[in-house]
Amino acid sequence: MPLDGSRTLQVAEGTSYARILGVGAYRPRRIVPNSEVVDAIDSSDEWIQQRSGIRNRRWAADDETVEMMSVEASRAALAHAGIDARQVDCVVVATVSHMLNLPSAASAIAHELGTEQAAAFDIAAACAGFCHALALANDMVRAGSARHVLVVGVDKLSTMTDRTDRGTAFIFGDGAGAVVVGPSETPAIGPVVWGSDGEQYDLIRQDKSWTDVLADDDPTYPFMTMQGSAVFRWASFTMAKTAQQALDRAGVKADELDVFIPHQANMRITNAMARSMKLPEHVRIARDIAEQGNTSAASVPLALERMLAEGEAASGDVALMIAFGAGLAYAAQVVVLP
Ligand code: COA
Repeated sequence: MPLDGSRTLQVAEGTSYARILGVGAYRPRRIVPNSEVVDAIDSSDEWIQQRSGIRNRRWAADDETVEMMSVEASRAALAHAGIDARQVDCVVVATVSHMLNLPSAASAIAHELGTEQAAAFDIAAACAGFCHALALANDMVRAGSARHVLVVGVDKLSTMTDRTDRGTAFIFGDGAGAVVVGPSETPAIGPVVWGSDGEQYDLIRQDKSWTDVLADDDPTYPFMTMQGSAVFRWASFTMAKTAQQALDRAGVKADELDVFIPHQANMRITNAMARSMKLPEHVRIARDIAEQGNTSAASVPLALERMLAEGEAASGDVALMIAFGAGLAYAAQVVVLP
């Protein structure tokens, strides 16, 4: 029955603006230097550093699960934000390495943190996942679907990496980063510029589906495969344009930027993007990849956390974030740092 003419549906009321209120990170205990990976791929520390900028990565132990790393990073983010877990209305977890398809990692994490039955769900956008989830959180707070959203980027890609594959074995690492997003009196998260280039869907992918694994007489774990040179070209050229669009949509000029936090895929990609965008000298650039490798959905929040912890970035700084990866999916936005 339609509502009578005197009544309309009630809708949620949000806030004008949202911001990142706090950041947290979890880096696995075990540091894996290049010397530990080179023999299996006939490589060298020098080659890896020169081609990728990576010196070390961290690989999680059995007890450092996707859930455990996420909970640790989330607790740190909540403490930084000064927000109690019971104030969190929604938990969004970006990951592609949670080994249970159901239930979501987010519902376990929300429960472990002690939220009061917060809405909880996972999203899969691979290395671009965190910036996608941040865009959702911003929209939720502004639309009134949630007041505080916990956003987690987490991956444990060491479980999906063929240690003998020259194209991927040295690149990926594990970790979790989290942010709390909540109401703001001033604009602090710019419009997201996002998309996916499905024509290049196959450039980074799991080598076989779970159905293929089950059909196998001698089943082996599915690994990640990557056409490295093609990904490199796409990221270096196309992603700089996307990053520039995020600046333009936020109305921020390159010389007004304090910090650039690109997905930590490869130091040469970061350098190529910075050159192509003509970022001024004063813009500090995240280079977490040297010590962390490419941690997929965790890479942007981990890099952000390190910059704040080491005093390379400060509260109130204006930062450009961009994440990109399998899909090929990408998302970028300008934020004010907590
Ligand atoms: N160690 C030593 N040599 C290697 C090697 C390795 N791990 N992998 C390849 N090589 C050799 C090749 O055999 C080739 O030798 P040749 O010139 O004698 O034929 C040479 O290095 C160049 O190979 P290529 O595959 O073209 O390397 P590259 O310059 O493209 O670098 C990557 C490889 C993986 C570092 C680079 O493609 C890359 O970083 N791609 C993007 C990856 C990325 O960011 N992925 C994540 C996106 S989310």
